[in-house]
Amino acid sequence: MSSFAPELQTLQERLQAAKRITVLTGAGISAASGVPTFRGDGGLWRNHRSQDLATPQAFERDPKLVWEFYQWRRNKVSHCRPNAAHEVLAEWSRHPDGFQLITQNVDGLHELADTRNVVRFHGTLWELSCWRRCPESPQSWEDRSDSLPPLPQCPFCGGLARPAVVWFGEPIAPHVLQNAAAALHCDVFITIGTSALVYPAAGLIEQAAREGAYTAEINPEATPASRFVDLPIAASAEKFLPLLEKFRI
Ligand code: OAD
Repeated sequence: MSSFAPELQTLQERLQAAKRITVLTGAGISAASGVPTFRGDGGLWRNHRSQDLATPQAFERDPKLVWEFYQWRRNKVSHCRPNAAHEVLAEWSRHPDGFQLITQNVDGLHELADTRNVVRFHGTLWELSCWRRCPESPQSWEDRSDSLPPLPQCPFCGGLARPAVVWFGEPIAPHVLQNAAAALHCDVFITIGTSALVYPAAGLIEQAAREGAYTAEINPEATPASRFVDLPIAASAEKFLPLLEKFRI
């Protein structure tokens, strides 16, 4: 790991001097836990690209197919455990005044690692909502069942239920946007394991940089963000984050 020594020292110094730290995570942080990323190997399900099924149009057309995909993902994730990278962030989050996590992941592994102050930018696999947004139903409700029916129903109106995740083309809830925007007022902003391709989440990195945060990226592959962050680190999250372990907020 000595090859990371300069990056490690720079980031450690920045973190030590920082009063507020914000981390943005994407699918790559869960890769070592066995959760397939969206755009990497394993991003295909029965020859469908994940991003083609994660749309309201796909659900309108074939809700059974989309639910089958989500049941498969729920089942897969239910056997996954947080990895060393999730654990480091969970430890940092125990100092909630100085730490905020924004995740695009819907797998719930940050929560399973007992991470506090999590902004779930794209919702969660473990909640459902009413497809027609009937007035009786809350915004979403928890359902961790491993044997959902092929077409789960809204318990409030009897209509179709859907996974409470944000699909392509759908807006991010205003309170989530607000919490994420507040988290951008930080001294250090680290983006971890995201391809930085999907907006508005990817825009948070640019915005944090514009607002004056020192920005770092942890990703074994280059992304559009690698070009403008202050410190691109070509490493996997589960290897690099534990190296920062000596650092304590
Ligand atoms: P992607 O699948 O687009 O990108 C995963 C990123 O993780 C890639 O840049 C990989 O290089 C990187 N990666 C892989 N293994 C890693 C490791 N061990 N450590 C660190 N990084 C690693 O996933 P996201 O960027 O999260 O949206 O995708 C963004 C959004 O698009 C998702 O939230 C989802 C998706 O379609 C919705 O569902 C709305």
